[in-house]
Amino acid sequence: MPEGFFHEPVMVKEVLAYLAVKPGGLYVDCTVGGGGHAAAILALIGNEGRLIGLDRDPEALSFARERLGSDPRVHLVHASFADLAEVLAGLGVKEVDGVLYDLGVSSYQLDRPERGFTYREDAPLDMRFDPSSPITAADLVNRLEEEELARIIREFGEERWAKRIARFIVRARARRPILTTGQLVEIIKEAIPAPARRRGPHPARRTFQALRIAVNQELEALKASLPQAADHLKPGGRLVVLSYHSLEDRLVKEFFRRSPYLRPLTKKPLTPSPEEMERNPRASSCKLRAAEKILNPEGGE
Ligand SMILES: C[S@@+](CC[C@H](N)C(=O)[O-])C[C@H]1O[C@@H](n2cnc3c(N)ncnc32)[C@H](O)[C@@H]1O
Repeated sequence: MPEGFFHEPVMVKEVLAYLAVKPGGLYVDCTVGGGGHAAAILALIGNEGRLIGLDRDPEALSFARERLGSDPRVHLVHASFADLAEVLAGLGVKEVDGVLYDLGVSSYQLDRPERGFTYREDAPLDMRFDPSSPITAADLVNRLEEEELARIIREFGEERWAKRIARFIVRARARRPILTTGQLVEIIKEAIPAPARRRGPHPARRTFQALRIAVNQELEALKASLPQAADHLKPGGRLVVLSYHSLEDRLVKEFFRRSPYLRPLTKKPLTPSPEEMERNPRASSCKLRAAEKILNPEGGE
């Protein structure tokens, strides 16, 4: 683990089992982050195996490079998994044995206040995985219509006070632009009635999650990427997705169910063991789904 990066990979044993990692295999880690899952895969693929790791965040990728970059079996690429087919074509890869997605944000990104993902410290309201992408959370909060803001906060944050929060945001930004996480947290706290604010998790948690998903167009990227992953799997190849949000999980479930080329291996999503949740609370919302590429879709097998 490179110094400065801490992210405990989630459900590692289950990921390896569902990917059916084997010596000589070629695997794609679409969200390589700090390289936790990638390192576990590398330990099982022998000298002939290969691993391609993608991340949209150049900072995460440089940590992955520090940890794994000297390994000749590893190719790391700064790219969104929405462009998976292009990345594979660029490397001359037609088929792979397994593709892994570990969605969302890493502990490392959350713990770096200057990235603007956390509501626990005051910092610029950014939230971009890729700092070269054009839209920040501050842009959304200061520019979107009230109704669109409310929709994003409700749908992506599953926040029951979405309408009020959007109204308070619009009122506050008329006085001065909302540029920091601290400003936004104060507005959210004002918007949520006191009794509701005192219950449950941090009052800004849901709104921050919603804005992050919107800023990074996370659902669109996943929707674009899954068919590309399925297309590039060898017959018998595995697709494994760890998701942390019900909309992501639904999208994966529907894709697995509809694709004529995939056989779902998990009827219900797997969740981390109680011990893992206790050890790593950030794992607690994780759901794992896996599918296998079918040999002959017409024959149904
Ligand atoms: C939960 S972390 C992955 C942690 C990793 N499995 C590990 O063991 O360290 C998710 C990572 O996905 C990256 N990410 C999010 N959306 C992405 C996308 N569309 N394409 C590529 N990477 C993405 C984030 O930058 C983050 O580093």
